[in-house]
Amino acid sequence: MTFEIRKVCCIGAGYVGGPTMAVFANKCSNIQFKVVDINRARINAWNSKDLSQLPIFEPGLEKLIFKCREKNLFFTTDIESSISEADMIFLSVNTPTKTKGIGAGKASDLKWVEASARQIAEFSSSHTIVVEKSTLPVRTAETIKKILESSQNNQTKSLTNKSYSVLSNPEFLAEGNAIKDLENPDRVLIGGEDNKAISALEGIYLNWISPEKIIKTNLWSSELSKLTANAFLAQRISSINSISAICEETGADIYQVGKAVGLDSRIGNKFLMPSPGFGGSCFQKDILNLIYLCEFYKLDAVAKYWQGVIDINKWQKTRISQLIINKLFGNVSGKKIAILGFAFKSNTNDIRNSPAIDICEDLLEEGSSLAIYDPKVTDAQINNALENKIQRFKSSDEKNLLNIYSSIDDVFKDCDAVIVLTEWQEFSFIDWVKCAKVMRKPSWVFDTRSCVNKQEVLKAGFNFWRIGSETHHIL
Ligand code: NAD
Ligand code: UDX
Repeated sequence: MTFEIRKVCCIGAGYVGGPTMAVFANKCSNIQFKVVDINRARINAWNSKDLSQLPIFEPGLEKLIFKCREKNLFFTTDIESSISEADMIFLSVNTPTKTKGIGAGKASDLKWVEASARQIAEFSSSHTIVVEKSTLPVRTAETIKKILESSQNNQTKSLTNKSYSVLSNPEFLAEGNAIKDLENPDRVLIGGEDNKAISALEGIYLNWISPEKIIKTNLWSSELSKLTANAFLAQRISSINSISAICEETGADIYQVGKAVGLDSRIGNKFLMPSPGFGGSCFQKDILNLIYLCEFYKLDAVAKYWQGVIDINKWQKTRISQLIINKLFGNVSGKKIAILGFAFKSNTNDIRNSPAIDICEDLLEEGSSLAIYDPKVTDAQINNALENKIQRFKSSDEKNLLNIYSSIDDVFKDCDAVIVLTEWQEFSFIDWVKCAKVMRKPSWVFDTRSCVNKQEVLKAGFNFWRIGSETHHIL
């Protein structure tokens, strides 16, 4: 007999919980989905009438929210009743790197996962399938099971019908492409031991995903596969970024090299775009988590290997900051620099670990003032991210070190250089002749994402640096 799922709860209304449940609700009209969060402001934003005010920007998301919200998709802070009535609960809470205590700087902070497990233990009322959606260290399911089981032991068994199955179902969506990734994933991974629970979760996915894409493993393989996938993806970026630096020294071009290499079907052509370094909430955190696990199991050589991926990423950001400062005569003090893009990639408003933060901090440290434009990131996000540096380097003449613009047309005035840090499509249509007229000469364009029109930039008389390519000096 299969276990019928009628009500689902998702704990955590963030970048994963929100879009994932929106797609699930759209694909499974016979199931009710409740997304809960302790953050009331976030839940209010998910419920806002004006869909442009949703807490996250993700192409295709507004349409789904408009279609499903208040029908079979609900956002609420009522955690107790949402857990109590659910047949299946997804854990989609944050698992950031620990900042203090044992494993600080490497291990995942599991306090939100543990708190959620305790909420489930307290409020669930019958048999509940608990699904790990968050990215977790291997064997976290064991901890979750222990917490849930201890709640059963606290009860007189005859008075309660509570029981649990724990599954691992990591999420592979990439921000900016989340809806497409959820609607058409490369694979769905389910780890677990309880076949009834596995079938129940599989049953949800079978509403839109073909069975051959659904892979089943044991719990630990599933948890480790997620960390490994992110480590491999990040490793490719560090690899191509390391080669971008060699290209700049030798006259080779990273796009020609990337194309030649990527055409080898064993290597493949995806994830070979050079950049100012990978950002986002996942890659660094998950590799650090892997390193911590390796060290725990005394696999020091393996830990060192993965540390190299992070080291190159950090190095790439510093390399670019230093290069920009060197090109501007080794001095950016008192100079105004335009920053185009602050998000860690295009099509998202997420700035977690964005390389823009490190590069802006380096420039502020050298005394430059910044004029920043990003089409989706708010002023408050940018101010928060750079607040510490701004306070430290407040200029004596009270000149604004940080200017944030809502229109790209206003950014360029009096700037010495433009640095493109996110590959927003609109940056490929900039009128560079117009920009050149209002900037100070000699002016530079630094394109860390290869997204501006090189011919137009050169025609407008700029000095031009593009990542992994030859530099064009006009003056
Ligand atoms: P997020 O910070 O955007 O969202 C997590 C939410 O959980 C927050 O709103 C927080 O308030 C809420 N929360 C925490 N504890 C809670 C509790 N006890 N009860 C109710 N709500 C609680 O995080 P995210 O980016 O959505 O990531 C969630 C998990 O998914 C992480 O483990 C992450 O590694 C993983 N993941 C993220 C991505 C991504 O692209 N962001 C992709 C795949 C996997
Ligand atoms: C990543 C994984 O791709 C996804 O499977 C996982 O679920 C969560 O982590 P995300 O961080 O949202 O997704 O975006 P992703 O597209 O992977 O980009 C991460 C960073 O790598 C961005 O800063 C991006 O600009 C950079 N990147 C990506 C490159 O520098 N070059 C590339 O070729 C691809």
